[in-house]
Amino acid sequence: MIVYLNGEFMPIEEAKISVLDRGFIYGDGVYELIPVYSRKSFRLPQHLMRLQHSLDGIRLANPHTEAQWTSIIGEIIARQPYEDQGVYFQVTRGVAKRDHTFPKDVPATVFMMSNPLATPSAEQVERGVAVVTAEDNRWRRCDLKTISLVGNVLMRQLAADAGSVETVMFRDGYLTEASASNVLIVKNGAIIAPPKDELILPGITYGATWEFAREAGMPFEMRPVPREEALAADEMWLTSSTKEVLAITTLDGRPFAGGKPGPFFRKMHAVFQQHKPK
Ligand code: PDD
Repeated sequence: MIVYLNGEFMPIEEAKISVLDRGFIYGDGVYELIPVYSRKSFRLPQHLMRLQHSLDGIRLANPHTEAQWTSIIGEIIARQPYEDQGVYFQVTRGVAKRDHTFPKDVPATVFMMSNPLATPSAEQVERGVAVVTAEDNRWRRCDLKTISLVGNVLMRQLAADAGSVETVMFRDGYLTEASASNVLIVKNGAIIAPPKDELILPGITYGATWEFAREAGMPFEMRPVPREEALAADEMWLTSSTKEVLAITTLDGRPFAGGKPGPFFRKMHAVFQQHKPK
């Protein structure tokens, strides 16, 4: 695989960074993951806007303009043999002697790779997926897509330990998100999603479902979702760049929402497929 590191493209085996990189030492950086269908990126401007939000949030200057990012991303896509890809990149606060304070005049480290895009299987779409639930114990800036992901890693492992795909989290009695996905519910004919505040990542897929719902005439509300309302929902979905939209049909080991994907999910899934670049 050909990857990008600090201005150069090279085989992944040759990409090396210092052990003093602040990404390695502190998890001091941000990242993006952009789905690519038929070599065309999906919602690139939105991903680059969220990158800027994350960089602003950690007070790190953007090392590239939007045009530069677009060109590097275009080149990494062109250099892979597969059509559907997941472009991953991260920007860290660079290499410096270990000291929590920001280093002065140190260039950011920029690393980018692109893997084959692992979209859900037909079975996952047809039958839905299993999740577990947990109290959200992460920090309070979950709107920043930082590479400090140990909180999310621990959450995901709870799901894996239970043979489930995700851990849906609640904070102080309200739905937040899952370890690497947003969570939306359907109740009484409306799609309802937690507001894009500092407690959840403003998912690009979540944003896409909001737009697609508007086009398809499906009511969509953004508001706090109490735990009891979520657990009594007619449908519950996961959204992410790799999961697209998936229905949750098992929750904490028990059938959820009738144990099969609901009609709103089917409609949204179909609309989503229509909007993917071909
Ligand atoms: N995860 N919430 C969290 C905590 C996430 O990590 C992600 C994405 C999402 C969904 O965002 P989007 O729709 O923009 O992919 C929500 C990516 C895919 C990852 O870390 O692999």
